[in-house]
Order: sequence, then C-alpha cells, then structure tokens
Amino acid sequence: MGRILVLYDSATGNTEKMAMLVAEGVEHVEGMEVRIRSVVDARAEDVLWCNGIAVGTPTNCGILSWKMKKFWDDLVEEYWGRIDGKIGCAFSSSGGWAGGNEVACLSILSVLMNFGFLVFGVTDYVADKFTLHYGAAIAGEPRAEREQEACRRLGRRLAQWVRVYVDGEPDVIQDTGAREHM
Ligand SMILES: Cc1cc2nc3c(=O)[nH]c(=O)nc-3n(C[C@H](O)[C@H](O)[C@H](O)COP(=O)(O)O)c2cc1C
Repeated sequence: MGRILVLYDSATGNTEKMAMLVAEGVEHVEGMEVRIRSVVDARAEDVLWCNGIAVGTPTNCGILSWKMKKFWDDLVEEYWGRIDGKIGCAFSSSGGWAGGNEVACLSILSVLMNFGFLVFGVTDYVADKFTLHYGAAIAGEPRAEREQEACRRLGRRLAQWVRVYVDGEPDVIQDTGAREHM
C-alpha cells in the first residue's frame, strides 16, 4: 500500500488544479492512498507519512514560490537527514510558455534532492511534441487534454515508482507508453 502526498502552493488556483489532476493520476494505480495538501495546511507529519511526493508551485521569478521554499526551510532543523529515500517529482504552472516552469520544477527537485529524496522526470510523450521530462510544466491552468494528461501521467508514474521501489513490485512498469506520440 503506497502513500502519496500531493503538496502544492497556489495563489490563483492554477497549480491547485494541476494538483487535483496529479492526484487523479495516482488513483489510476491500485492500492494507493493519497493526501492532497496546500502548503498552508501541510505539516511535517504529512511528509513523514508519505512514500512518494509530488510538489507543485506557481513559477515565481523562474523558481518555486517563497511559501513552498519556506515550508522546506522550516523542516531543515528537525527533519533534515530523517526523511530521505522517498520518491519525489515536481509540477509547475507559469504565466507563459518559456516563462520558467521547467526551471521551477528543477528548483523543487533540487530542494527535494537536498533532503535525500529520489527524484525523477517522465520521458513519456503525452501528445505530439508534449512531454514532462522535468515534471508537469504548463502555462496558466490545465485546460487542454494534453496539459491535463501531463499532470495525470506524473501522478500515475509517481504511484508506479512507489509500487516498484517501495512495495517491491517491478512488474507494475511494463509498457510505459513513452514512445506512443513520438
Ligand atoms: C511573484 C510572481 C512571480 C511570477 N513569476 C513568473 C515567472 O517567472 N514566469 C512566468 O511565466 N510567470 C510568472 N508568474 C505568473 C504565475 O506563475 C502564473 O500566473 C501561475 O499560473 C500562477 O499559478 P497559481 O494560480 O497556482 O498561483 C509570477 C507570478 C507572481 C505572483
């Protein structure tokens, strides 16, 4: 039984909508328990609880929001070195394409790596010329099917990796569909 935390910050609701879709993707994999938490409500206990985490932020000046950074900064003193080995990934909504959403995802992955999380990107193409190598990265709210599918795919892959590496079930990943739209 995998435990997944979808943790997000969102000032105007776009990243929150992504978070809901990521959670939907998690639920495509059997036996997953998912918690969705805004960074305002999340507690250290939520991070301790999970095996896998998807962290989402609005792109702010090309990186993660200050609230999301503060959440992790506040964990350092008590929890750094005690929450490593979990599986992590990122998602971000920016104002515009090429506005830094992939860099924002990388900034989240960087924070997670600092805590010892095992981070990943997704090689799948969810539509023609549309992928999520550094996490799900979109402009504005997830409206188009490919944008929604990128979020769902991230959640699904996170759940699958938890099944593989935490539950020891490598057969969960047989055909990823990575090359479907190439
Ligand atoms: C302080 C601040 C900085 C921002 N910086 C960027 C940026 O660097 N690049 C960009 O494309 N959009 C930027 N935006 C726009 C947001 O990333 C965008 O509106 C996003 O969809 C908001 O997500 P949310 O609805 O989850 O808050 C910025 C917005 C704010 C408030």
